[in-house]
Amino acid sequence: MSNANRYTGLVDRYRDRLPVSATTRAISLGEGNTPLIKLENIPRIIGKDVEIYVKYEGLNPTGSFKDRGMTMAVTKAVEEGSKAIICASTGNTSAAAAAYAARAGIKAFVLIPEGKIAMGKMAQAMMYGAITMQIRGNFDDGMRLVKEVADQAPVTIVNSINPYRLQGQKTIAYEIVEALGRAPDYHCLPVGNAGNITAHWMGYTEAVANQPADQFEQVIYDAATDQFTGPKPEGLPTMVGYQASGAAPFLRGAPVESPETVATAIRIGNPQSWNHAKAVVRDSKGWFDELQDSEILEAQRLLSMYEGVFVEPASAASIGGAIRDIKAGKIAEGSVIVCTVTGNGLKDPDTAIKQCADAVMLSIDATMDQVKDSILSNM
Ligand code: F0G
Repeated sequence: MSNANRYTGLVDRYRDRLPVSATTRAISLGEGNTPLIKLENIPRIIGKDVEIYVKYEGLNPTGSFKDRGMTMAVTKAVEEGSKAIICASTGNTSAAAAAYAARAGIKAFVLIPEGKIAMGKMAQAMMYGAITMQIRGNFDDGMRLVKEVADQAPVTIVNSINPYRLQGQKTIAYEIVEALGRAPDYHCLPVGNAGNITAHWMGYTEAVANQPADQFEQVIYDAATDQFTGPKPEGLPTMVGYQASGAAPFLRGAPVESPETVATAIRIGNPQSWNHAKAVVRDSKGWFDELQDSEILEAQRLLSMYEGVFVEPASAASIGGAIRDIKAGKIAEGSVIVCTVTGNGLKDPDTAIKQCADAVMLSIDATMDQVKDSILSNM
């Protein structure tokens, strides 16, 4: 049977734009190629003439956008002979690291903040067979430890300070430009460690510059000059990054000592890609803003109830922020807006159930009368 049309993941799909050779063996679970869903009800509800799309990254193999970065990081780690990877994580990076390590037959060590990651993510690290270290500390403590231990033990760091991570994650922008035939006017996304906003910008710049493969110019952030290298095309989106108020270092202008938010995925006070993300917002004439936990949860529920898209709390920050900025006119009517919804709602069932205390949940006898009454009284 011919396999020619089988989608085999983003390393194969974008091999000529990624730092791999024609013979590099891709460690893949078929990540990427996620749906770009046009919102049909929310624009009407908010009474604004805008086109809003969500890029549903929760449909990646481990349920978050981290798979895009992890396929690249693990592909390169294996190519370079590494036998073990390590990361600090708020839960999604550890799930992805564990899965791709399992796939590659290498070891994954993951450091997670004890009691502060969503239940589904915990289950993933355990099921995929990672060595899980719950630390009495937060993500930023874990990040510091991982950076230190990598000098003392034979492990490859697969946090987004590993440059291959952002190379994989940039492909989200390729897919969006392919789907829309252009870049959106605005791109909104949640910001934690700030790798993803950087990856989006690199990908948009490369995709919009649209060069034939033989002249392809890679775009990376150059710390020495505080500039992105490569082409500077017209038609790039304005980048907007949203943080949770309790974990909003970009709004405070400095690291936050003890970050706290219901959106545990972005419970980060000291982002590793600080300068990169600042440069993205500067170059795209975008902005950072913050949302209260209550606003994040409200947006999560709105997206579920009115569009059928269930995302985790951190992901909802993008849509909650976008709606607020559209209502305020900061994002103009007539705009095309893409929000990255970064992780699947199933990752964090506890938070979901807690906030749905008022949902219709009847307890009835197993009789036709009671079923019928329940239907008729709720039509
Ligand atoms: N959304 C989700 C669902 C995430 O898991 C993360 C980061 C972000 C947004 C923010 O992305 O860090 O690139 O700015 N999660 C990391 C983790 C930190 O360990 O899973 P960022």
